[in-house]
Amino acid sequence: VGTAVSEITHLIFCTSSCIEMPGADCRLAKLLGLHPSVRRFLIFGQGCNGGATVLRLAKDVAENNAGARVLVVSVENMLCMFRGPGDDDMENLVGQALFGDGAGAAIVGSELVADVERSIFDLSWARQTLLPNSEGLITCQLREVGLIVRMLKSVPDLISENIDDCLREAFEPLGISDWNSIFWVCHPGGRAILDKIQAKLRLQPENLRVTRQVLAENRNMASVCVFFVMDEMRKSSADRRLKTTGEGLEWGVVFGFEPGLTVETLIIRSV
Ligand SMILES: CC(C)(COP(=O)(O)OP(=O)(O)OC[C@H]1O[C@@H](n2cnc3c(N)ncnc32)[C@H](O)[C@@H]1OP(=O)(O)O)[C@@H](O)C(=O)NCCC(=O)NCCS
Repeated sequence: VGTAVSEITHLIFCTSSCIEMPGADCRLAKLLGLHPSVRRFLIFGQGCNGGATVLRLAKDVAENNAGARVLVVSVENMLCMFRGPGDDDMENLVGQALFGDGAGAAIVGSELVADVERSIFDLSWARQTLLPNSEGLITCQLREVGLIVRMLKSVPDLISENIDDCLREAFEPLGISDWNSIFWVCHPGGRAILDKIQAKLRLQPENLRVTRQVLAENRNMASVCVFFVMDEMRKSSADRRLKTTGEGLEWGVVFGFEPGLTVETLIIRSV
């Protein structure tokens, strides 16, 4: 299923693990044999939620360029943040325990070629929001020793305090306010974040099951996680013979957060 590689019109490559010129987007385009004029974007430094950020960008590109086939790729190699642990640097230890490597990809377009392409999820709406009073809660600085990641202990509280507003803004026009009635593709930043979100929104354990499974099996792969969660959800929905790719439900949310603190909220529709 799908059109030829030569039909890819845009490449969006996302990573927070390396910065060099020419970038990894250039190397990947050559490796895959993409057209030399493929329109490339290298998105660096979006941190944990880069996956949702580049899906939002791909949606904009696809909707504004007729016939666009946007290949979105996210890669994280967390070795760049490895440093010798020390008793006096708990934040460093927490970061190294939490993160893992991964890569994910998706193709985004705005109209399907009949009998050739098949949609898995529709990206219906997207919004990026900078949370108030959140400066310095998560920071990542690239230095000679590698990527220095700092997360304050208050991150789970701040995210759970703001999630209700983000969801209401997104779903009000659809008349949806029961957060158990949608499927969840949540960035699994850490177990404490998922616990707080679940408690705050009174979610059933089933809602975050796939997100927790991806975290348990792969750890926090930063921008890559949402691709894993969407893929796992698609597969488990098919295995369970559910009627949609989103666990049998129609509407879902991609929710994540990154340094800023910036929140990404995407409404997605299963098919
Ligand atoms: C890291 C985490 C998985 C550990 O969970 P846990 O195993 O249940 O352990 P706890 O939360 O009780 O923390 C264990 C210890 O680490 C410390 N700790 C936790 N998070 C910390 C942080 N961000 N910075 C420094 N210390 C931290 C705790 O104070 C505790 O130390 P103590 O025993 O001396 O009190 C959990 O705290 C978490 O999910 N935190 C959020 C991570 C985050 O911000 N992710 C965002 C990236 S996108």
